[in-house]
Amino acid sequence: MAEQKQWVLLTGASGGFGIEFAIQLEQLGYNLILHGRDKARMQLTYAALQSPDNHMCMQADLSSRKEVEAFIDKLTALNMIGLVNNAGFGVWGVFAAKESVAQADVIRVDLLAPVMLAHALLPCLIRNHGFMINVSSLAAETPLPYLATYAAVKAGLTFWSEALRAEHQGEVRVVTLAPGPSPTGFRDVSGAPKGKGNMVSTPASKIISASLQTLAVGGGYCVPGWRHKLLWCIQKITPRFISLALMANYLKK
Ligand SMILES: NC(=O)c1ccc[n+]([C@@H]2O[C@H](COP(=O)([O-])OP(=O)(O)OC[C@H]3O[C@@H](n4cnc5c(N)ncnc54)[C@H](OP(=O)(O)O)[C@@H]3O)[C@@H](O)[C@H]2O)c1
Repeated sequence: MAEQKQWVLLTGASGGFGIEFAIQLEQLGYNLILHGRDKARMQLTYAALQSPDNHMCMQADLSSRKEVEAFIDKLTALNMIGLVNNAGFGVWGVFAAKESVAQADVIRVDLLAPVMLAHALLPCLIRNHGFMINVSSLAAETPLPYLATYAAVKAGLTFWSEALRAEHQGEVRVVTLAPGPSPTGFRDVSGAPKGKGNMVSTPASKIISASLQTLAVGGGYCVPGWRHKLLWCIQKITPRFISLALMANYLKK
C-alpha cells in the first residue's frame, strides 16, 4: 500500500511570518497546507514555493467558530505531521475606545483557534511523532497598555504552549516562538503608529529560522536573535510597576 502523504498546516500563510515559514518548511521537505483568508496573498506565498504542486491552500476565517469547525473537519481527514499556529493580529489603542468585536476576535484568532486546531490534530501528530509551533510574542512577557488584549492573549498562548510542550515531551515536539517587533503586515493591521520598536526589529527570515533550529533540537521556548533576547532579558529584570509606566508612555499614540 502506498504511504499516505503527510501534511503540515501553516495558518496565516498569507502574511509576513507565514511566507517565511512556507519557504523554510518546504526546504525541509514538508508538504504544506497554506491557510489564510486573503486568496490573492495566499497565492503569492504559493507561487514563492519551489514545488507548488506538493502543497495546497485552504481558506478559513479563524474568528468564526463555524468556519474553524468546518476547517477542522477537512484537516482531520488528512495525515497530519505538523501544525504551525501562526495566524494572528492585534488591536492597537485605548481599550475602551476600540470595538468590542475586534477585541474578542483577537482572542478567537490568536488563542481559541490554536486551542481548537491543536485539540483536533494532536492525536494524529502524536501517531506521526510530529510537531507544533505556536507563534506567540514577547508581548506575552509584559502587560502592554494600548495593546492590552493582544498581550493578554499572547500570555495565554505562551503558557498553554509551554504546558503542552511538557505534556507531550517525547511524543510531539513543541516550539513556543516569542519574537519581538518584526517588519510584517502586523503593524498596519493593528493600527500601530510607525516607528515603535524599530530599534529591536529583526527580519522575519531570522525569526523563522531560529524557531526551526529550536524544532530541530527537540522543541523549546525560542526568543529569536540577539535583539529580541536582550529585550526579553530587560523584561525579566524590570519590576512590573516600572515596565507598566515605561510601556504606557512609549506605546501611547
Ligand atoms: N510582526 C511582529 O512584529 C510580530 C511580533 C511577535 C509576534 N507576531 C505574531 O506573528 C504572527 C504572524 O503575524 P505577522 O507578523 O506575519 O503579521 P501579518 O503579516 O499581518 O500576518 C498575519 C496573518 O494572520 C492571518 N489572519 C489574521 N486574522 C485572521 C483571521 N481572522 N482568520 C484567518 N487568518 C487570519 C492573516 O491572513 P489574511 O491576511 O489572509 O486574513 C495573515 O496571514 C501573529 O500571530 C502575530 O501575533 C508578530
